[in-house]
Amino acid sequence: MSYNIAMDGPAGAGKSTIAKKAAARLGYIYVDTGAMYRALSLFFLRNRVNPDDIEKVAEKCREADVTISYENGEQVVWLNGENVNSLIRTEEVSMMTSKMSAIPAVREKLLSLQKKLAESENVIMDGRDIGTCVLPNADVKIYLTASVSVRAKRRYEEQKGKGIACTLEEVEENVRMRDEQDMNRPVAPLRKAEDAILVDSSDMTIDQVVDEIIRICKEKGLK
Ligand code: DC
Repeated sequence: MSYNIAMDGPAGAGKSTIAKKAAARLGYIYVDTGAMYRALSLFFLRNRVNPDDIEKVAEKCREADVTISYENGEQVVWLNGENVNSLIRTEEVSMMTSKMSAIPAVREKLLSLQKKLAESENVIMDGRDIGTCVLPNADVKIYLTASVSVRAKRRYEEQKGKGIACTLEEVEENVRMRDEQDMNRPVAPLRKAEDAILVDSSDMTIDQVVDEIIRICKEKGLK
């Protein structure tokens, strides 16, 4: 039997940073489901698939093979045999992913891969619908959030650090748009599962959030 931790929340809440650190402390595998959606979106961008053409998206989906592996504890995402880790973090891919991930064919494609990973391994999996759809029976569910302004500021600093030109206003606008799209889509919208524990990281440091997640896991009896 394996332990499953589901972590959902909006863009920029710090899910991947926190989940990665918590996974290292618990000795679990960190599964970044957003990266899988991003890899598919990269495929659509490269093939100039219009996200409004749902039939075309469903058809093209069949040509894309997305898998993940682990190298030195880091998740690597493969798109048709190519390591795309360094290509999927741009704002262009982020916006495309938020649109494409609302399409049922896209979600169906990745759902079984995500479920299978959690069956055999102790995982902490982050995304939007993990506690509500992918792992409804997860041992621990966390809904990690922060205010829009804090999330935008964090994203802005991250982009600036990477040398990407942008303004705080632009980043904040993108965060709002992704919230709007991710929370209001008909299929698997982002929402807190009823049994998820809400953690608001607006006024917390990364280490404080990680400590809180570990505390919750221990309280729930996870090893
Ligand atoms: O977590 P992220 O920023 O890498 O996610 C990118 C987009 O992918 C996000 O805007 C919504 C979508 N996504 C999703 O719909 N379901 C998931 N489980 C993970 C991500």
